[in-house]
Amino acid sequence: MSKEIRPIHVPDIGDYKNVPVIEIMVQVGDAVAAEQSLLTLETDKATMDVPAPFAGVVKEIKVKVGDAISTGSLIMMMESSAAAAALAPASQPPQSTAPAAPQTPTQPATVLASAASKVAAPLSLGEHFTGKAHASPSNRKFARELGVDLSRVKGSGIKGRVTKSDVQNFVKAALSQPQGAGGMLGGISVLAMPVINFAKFGEIETKPLSRIKKISGANLHRNWVTIPHITQHDEADITEMEIFRKKLNEEYAAQGIKITPLAFILKAVVTTMQLFPDFNASLDASGENLILKKYFHIGVAVDTPDGLMVPVVRDVEQKGIAQLAKELAELSAKARDKKLPATEMQGGCFSISSLGGIGGTAFTPIINAPEVAILGVSKASMKPVYIDSAFVPRLMLPLSLSYDHRVIDGASAARFTTHLAQVLTDVRRFAL
Ligand code: COA
Repeated sequence: MSKEIRPIHVPDIGDYKNVPVIEIMVQVGDAVAAEQSLLTLETDKATMDVPAPFAGVVKEIKVKVGDAISTGSLIMMMESSAAAAALAPASQPPQSTAPAAPQTPTQPATVLASAASKVAAPLSLGEHFTGKAHASPSNRKFARELGVDLSRVKGSGIKGRVTKSDVQNFVKAALSQPQGAGGMLGGISVLAMPVINFAKFGEIETKPLSRIKKISGANLHRNWVTIPHITQHDEADITEMEIFRKKLNEEYAAQGIKITPLAFILKAVVTTMQLFPDFNASLDASGENLILKKYFHIGVAVDTPDGLMVPVVRDVEQKGIAQLAKELAELSAKARDKKLPATEMQGGCFSISSLGGIGGTAFTPIINAPEVAILGVSKASMKPVYIDSAFVPRLMLPLSLSYDHRVIDGASAARFTTHLAQVLTDVRRFAL
């Protein structure tokens, strides 16, 4: 495909002369699409974007911010392909273009017709120009698409103009603020993450995040920044429970049921929640009331090749250990086979994240909102425990309970884990 370098002139801007350039949106070397904004002009009444008349690559920029230009001024040289040129004729001097609507505050501020005489849909001045925030039409459109009220954005451009990155930074800061009852709470403002070209430091590869990671990542981020987390650590002596579990495993092997410590932990958590109802609760939308649940549905984090999924085991208080073990195996198999319907991930009251099959001694799980607590389980190991004037080897299970400090006090959390550990130490307490 042949290529040629072609001039871009300012198309017809009506009676305006010597209009200052206030923003240049492209750089030499940029590949631009037809109709993409190249620069913004500002009269005393309105701002106007000059769009690219054809797709191509910017070769030279003939103006700079602050220059005053008029209809027909040469602004750029762009390389176009023959194919692109065929679709859109080269920029012509203004006399050959369709006249643009005159720009007055009471009339629409027309996005400039490209040199191809294509007049883009007019942007209503009254609709977009608040009189407070100054921004180019393209940045106003960008803000509108993101639902940003430009009057709330502090502009960093010339004369306080709002640039595209001002809008992006405003959205980033807003997203990381705590959410109230459907609204934004002020107070937190964070620096935007720097954009780093890692390739400068060595070889890299870009791997897109899975769909599940993107969805769960957004939820984890929200929960981490909006919920005041505390994690209470404890240990449960599960020596006797393990003896019982191994015995049960022998009995149920013929039925194909494998009982892991997790089934006992599920049951022990619910037994403990029955004694501490605030752990089976959610804050209501106003944040002023606690909704106490009378059912016991427990979410269990399952590690899948595509990311974390949290199926929910329902009515745990009504089920025995073997039944829970069977359901856990079925739900985690479904999660790993991507066959888990959304309904089986809803309605959880409390979550358990078990890394016990892998390793580690403690961690800080993130609360799965709107729940108010989550139990992290690490790998049990034999430890010397001082009992009756002697150290004896006991199998100790590490527990890490993260809780929402708006709802649960530290003392309640310590009571919860202490009771949970007692239940796991002596599983006859399930029956109490
Ligand atoms: N301490 C010691 N051993 C443990 C243990 C613990 N706390 N928990 C499990 N085990 C053992 C099991 O008994 C089993 O042993 P075996 O194969 O000798 O019988 C082995 O570890 C593997 O167990 P696993 O297959 O993981 O079963 P599970 O019922 O414990 O866990 C899932 C099921 C679905 C929760 C688990 O497979 C999983 O995905 N965990 C990761 C969750 C996660 O990623 N959380 C992070 C969120 S931040």
